[in-house]
Amino acid sequence: MNKSKNVFETRFCRHLDELKWLYMELYGNDAMFAELCDSMSRFYQERNEDLKILDLEREAQPDWYKKNDMLGMMFYIDNFAGNMKGVQSKLDYIEKSNVNYIHLMPFLDTVEGRSDGGYAVADFRKVQEKLGTMEDLEHLTAACHKKKINVCMDFVMNHTSEDHAWAKKARQGDEEYQSRYFFFDDFTIPGMYENTVPQVFPTTAPGNFTWLPDAKKHVMTTFYPYQWDLNYRNPRVFNEMMYNFLFLANKGIDIIRIDAVPYIWKELYTSCRNLPQVHTIVRMMRMIGEIVCPGILLLGEVVMEPEKVVPYFGTVEKPECHMLYNVTTMATTWHTVATRNVRLLKQQLDIVNRLPKEYVFLNYLRCHDDIGWGLDYGALMQEGIGERSHKQYLNDYFQGYAGASNSRGELYNADPLTGDARFCGTTASMCGIEKAVCEDGCGSDALERAVRLDVMLHAYMFMQSGIPVIYGGDEIGQLNDYSYKENPHKAADSRYIHRGAMDWKAAGQIEDVTTVPGKIFSQLDRLEKIRKSEKVFMADADTWTIDTWDESVLCIGRYYEDEKIIGLFNFSEYDKTAWINETDGTYVDMISGRRMQASGVNIPAYGFYYLKKENEPGGDSDEIL
Ligand code: GLC
Repeated sequence: MNKSKNVFETRFCRHLDELKWLYMELYGNDAMFAELCDSMSRFYQERNEDLKILDLEREAQPDWYKKNDMLGMMFYIDNFAGNMKGVQSKLDYIEKSNVNYIHLMPFLDTVEGRSDGGYAVADFRKVQEKLGTMEDLEHLTAACHKKKINVCMDFVMNHTSEDHAWAKKARQGDEEYQSRYFFFDDFTIPGMYENTVPQVFPTTAPGNFTWLPDAKKHVMTTFYPYQWDLNYRNPRVFNEMMYNFLFLANKGIDIIRIDAVPYIWKELYTSCRNLPQVHTIVRMMRMIGEIVCPGILLLGEVVMEPEKVVPYFGTVEKPECHMLYNVTTMATTWHTVATRNVRLLKQQLDIVNRLPKEYVFLNYLRCHDDIGWGLDYGALMQEGIGERSHKQYLNDYFQGYAGASNSRGELYNADPLTGDARFCGTTASMCGIEKAVCEDGCGSDALERAVRLDVMLHAYMFMQSGIPVIYGGDEIGQLNDYSYKENPHKAADSRYIHRGAMDWKAAGQIEDVTTVPGKIFSQLDRLEKIRKSEKVFMADADTWTIDTWDESVLCIGRYYEDEKIIGLFNFSEYDKTAWINETDGTYVDMISGRRMQASGVNIPAYGFYYLKKENEPGGDSDEIL
């Protein structure tokens, strides 16, 4: 047996018992399990040598992604640089932005006008023609690896597009292919599902089923009508989707984002969300990855409340996802912006900080999707804040109608029945930069304030435990893009407002700190460099919050191997004092280099401090605040 075969066998034997147990429990099908095992071996053989070396390195250092230098950026390939080759030509900019992890938004084959931003995949083995080829992808990932940049892609496993080969055959009446989806002759069973299954797109795509007049069948479509839910009760579906996953991993992908993972198992009389079988499938996927391509990471897209999110990490012995989105923290951050009150955010951070340090969260201010107001309403209720009225307030605030708001953006899927709506906008527009640029002009106080809020939010995000991910363009303060309204394929989906094309002209101004792009880029650059050079930013540092006795000021402490840092963040447009009293020594403001005491700290409107404790006994502080 050669060495490489040995490596595979060892990994395979390590997981065989558990993998077989779970597979048989779900499918009880020996032949299909044997096929899966043979295919894993084949994908391993096909994996290129460079990736195998990376696998071995990462296996030897399983915490490789928990470093303080990890910084992500997500973007649509066409919006960012036209096509895959274009992205490759922009790697210097990506490096300059201190980014070492790029999330290429869906790029697999899809049909224009029925694509859901690429989340309706027509062929898992083909790149959209306008973006390039599989070969281009391989070149891009190899070029990224040379620069130590990791590449993330979406794996949309809950559904295929109606234009996928399976769907076409199913539509033509092939029963084997119909069994890969959820097909029904009449609405009896779909009607029963509708009693318990909530809606994802209540306005843009109401209902969970679609009538196919040509096939005379109803098909399950949780998302858009052209996105047909796959039936994972069928082992053929599971096996084939695992082969697609391994095929893509072999193209040099480092991080697989499992799209809409809570939805992948359906059961009558349930909400069809987060069912136990979902965890079995994710656990199997983790083991399959660890056998064939252990260098890759699984990132679960679980946009749910914290108690639903955390189980997707699995347990320490039986892990599932490597990373999950810190979604409640993200939504609570914007609640804090709108209310100038940090109480709920502090409670939310306390929940996250109490979790085991093995768990790695992706922190973000916004992504390509809407912001759903999934807050802890139980806690808000104790302060007399009701869910419905508060959501209304937040939506009014961020549209710029209520409170002292400077935000701009649009509602998403406003549901006339429940009164519920989510929100879309870029970080800069939600911080007031758009309004200030349009109404007050450059050099105005309003613009300065809005930029300060934008930078403060990034500084706060960088201080959370985990990996920060920026939406490409936010590093230069890109504004909402209203042009989607003129595109009939996009007009109904307001998420496109914050998915605009990268403004390379603005990116050309990053060296000029009198411009908005220059101001934001240079300040983020400073913070990113601090973050990657200071070990207190390691993902597994101790992290906690400290009372500031001011409702608008958040204080986060971090401690790692004798180093301590305190972050202070003022969420209000007024100057404030943080009544903290850290009397364990002198601190240095890491931005200005000024020595100061960490007690009774004055913080300007929308300002922040990164205060590092001095370890060497020093003289008096330059200034006692
Ligand atoms: C995920 C994606 C979203 C998409 C949905 C359906 O939630 O983030 O953009 O619409 O899945 O695939």
